[in-house]
Amino acid sequence: MITIKSDYELSLMKEAGRIVYDTHQYLKPYIKAGITTEELDKLAYDYIISRGATPSCLGYEGFPKSICTSVNEVVVHGIPSKQKLKNGDIIAIDICACYKGYHGDSAWSYAVGDISKEKEYLLEHTEKALYEGLSKIKAGVKLGVVSHAIEEYAKKHKLGVVRELVGHGIGNQLHEEPDVPNYGSEDEGVVLKEGMTIAVEPMLNLGTRKVYLLDDDWTIVTGDNKPSAHFEHTVVVTRDGYKILTGDDNYE
Ligand code: MF3
Ligand code: CO
Repeated sequence: MITIKSDYELSLMKEAGRIVYDTHQYLKPYIKAGITTEELDKLAYDYIISRGATPSCLGYEGFPKSICTSVNEVVVHGIPSKQKLKNGDIIAIDICACYKGYHGDSAWSYAVGDISKEKEYLLEHTEKALYEGLSKIKAGVKLGVVSHAIEEYAKKHKLGVVRELVGHGIGNQLHEEPDVPNYGSEDEGVVLKEGMTIAVEPMLNLGTRKVYLLDDDWTIVTGDNKPSAHFEHTVVVTRDGYKILTGDDNYE
């Protein structure tokens, strides 16, 4: 079932989204060579708790940590560990927080020190693919229009579009209906309505779109070990467009 959120629910989702955004900003200065992903996880846990929220990932289907840290060829769901970041790495940090029963979800990819031109290209165009998709959102539009726009943008920039993982509805559950794929045709999918809340999250690869699951049953990596990037915002559909709940414009 796709739910339409009331103003009260939206006010809670806005606060959850703010906490997620602020956690990203809090972590940013720490994303440097030498820090371990486990240290980033601990910083995020403490910060989210200090804001009166809980990290939605912790214990979600048994996920052992508070955030996902996906370095280089890891696409998503990297588990924070003793792995140290190195100059030239890229890291996608996926943060979900639950505030008074409502979730916010945003992933962002960051450079560690100086990165290659190819990695810069990947980060730039994966972020742009997200905004390209978001720009289509408005009540009355089919979800396929959003998905298609992301796919077309990625194709135009010769990036592989991961298909095994998709965006999702979000609310008092972290994952709700509908699925929000990063590919598809414009005449597919549900019609967006005012008050729907969705997480849009392109995962794009420098090489093949193929991915596989590691033995830890969480970590998803690219088939050719080339780098992957992930950008995600939680948004609410409005009559004329959309509002980002996990961005810096969520302050009025
Ligand atoms: N943002 C991630 C997603 O939408 C959340 C994963 S939480 C985890 O899939 F626990 F599964 F890692
Ligand atoms: Co998500």
